[in-house]
Amino acid sequence: MAESGELLSVPLHDLSWWERPADERASVFAELRKNSPRKFIPLDDAAHGAKRKGFWALTTHADIVEVSRRSDDFCSGEGTQIFDQPAALREYRGSIIDMDNPEHARLRKIVSRGFTSRNLAALRTDIEATVTEILDAMPADGSCDFVSSFAALLPLRIIDNMLGIPREHEAFILEATNVILGASDAEYVSDQSGAGIHRAVTQASEKLIALLQELAEERVAEPRDDLITKLVAADDENLTPQEMAKFFILLVGAGNETTRNVISHGLHVLTQHPDQRDLWLSDYDEHKQTAIEELLRWASPVIHMRRTVTRDGVRLGDMEFSAGDKVVLWYNSGNRDEDVFDDPEVFDITRDYNPHVAFGGAGAHFCLGAHLARLELDVAFRMLFERFPDIHSVGEPVPLRANFLNGIKHLSAEYTPVR
Ligand code: HEM
Repeated sequence: MAESGELLSVPLHDLSWWERPADERASVFAELRKNSPRKFIPLDDAAHGAKRKGFWALTTHADIVEVSRRSDDFCSGEGTQIFDQPAALREYRGSIIDMDNPEHARLRKIVSRGFTSRNLAALRTDIEATVTEILDAMPADGSCDFVSSFAALLPLRIIDNMLGIPREHEAFILEATNVILGASDAEYVSDQSGAGIHRAVTQASEKLIALLQELAEERVAEPRDDLITKLVAADDENLTPQEMAKFFILLVGAGNETTRNVISHGLHVLTQHPDQRDLWLSDYDEHKQTAIEELLRWASPVIHMRRTVTRDGVRLGDMEFSAGDKVVLWYNSGNRDEDVFDDPEVFDITRDYNPHVAFGGAGAHFCLGAHLARLELDVAFRMLFERFPDIHSVGEPVPLRANFLNGIKHLSAEYTPVR
């Protein structure tokens, strides 16, 4: 198939490309889906024929779903980010998202204890109490940075409460996760050199690991009624304190930095589409299921994940890969695939066929927190609009400079304060 000049060099790994307007990026992805759905993107050394240094960009919904299911052919253990991390760092921070079986299955079984539907049903009351507390503390003058006043606090406080992490650590954890997941943005890491980013991420990870390891050891010595205790000190097989600490980094990253962005994108897109907002608020329960799925599709908080081909001869459609080839799944693109979604560029809270891949394609690594995230989003929007029915975003969001998270750093909002 012929490729337009624009597609011949589309540097999806280059963060400056991601600073281009969202519409322009969306149209490049639409063209990729149409004309080059499995496109090889060379990285630096590839100019000299080192093909394996680049990656294949998979942009259709069908490929994303298929690759996610075939974890024996497309593994996660070689890393899930575009650029390889040093092996030592991967081992040090390694969590289940970067693992293959049998280790992945063993650990996933243990950590799943905390996310059963029974546990989650019991959580609703706690989540409501947390949202009430956050709403009570929102500025009384009726204007705020919605991210720091609401969206970022909610998932963080919920996961901290679940784990039993004392409130005194909240500000530090928020700061450390901003550094780890927002490292490519100068607001969070001022030294944007490779070494500067590496240093900042390592330091933040080390401090989080030390904190969690200490808490885990305390729970082994003195069990409590919290998730850390369930994972490190149950009668069944347990995580070691070191494994618990690594899992925590994944939880705060995967759980917080994602959910908070759906909440922020959600307020903004509902402000931009007052008809959709009015429709939802005319009967919250009637529309909540489809509305939340549409918000997830729309926000696509995780933009991509990588897999590595495990052996020569692995096929995907008419393509054959070699062992070590990298493929990158662009969830943002899969969620706009016109072969799957009617009018994918339209925000429609009543969309009833919506098999989005915001939580990944249904495979071994499908998001463990998907039910929790949906529950948080339901409680968050319901209580936010009950308390401040006219809350709306003002101006444009300040986006995170990144190609991994579709993040919003700041979003101004206004509302009529409740006396
Ligand atoms: C809207 C919110 C969220 C989104 C969009 C999201 C998205 C994702 C995605 C795309 C993956 C990778 C899937 C794959 O590689 O196939 C993932 C994995 C994961 N997520 Fe989430 N996530 C969200 C919330 C949460 C929450 C609240 C938690 C828990 C507190 C969580 C815990 C995890 C874990 C533990 C994994 C790794 C699973 C594994 O490797 O087996 N996520 N998530």
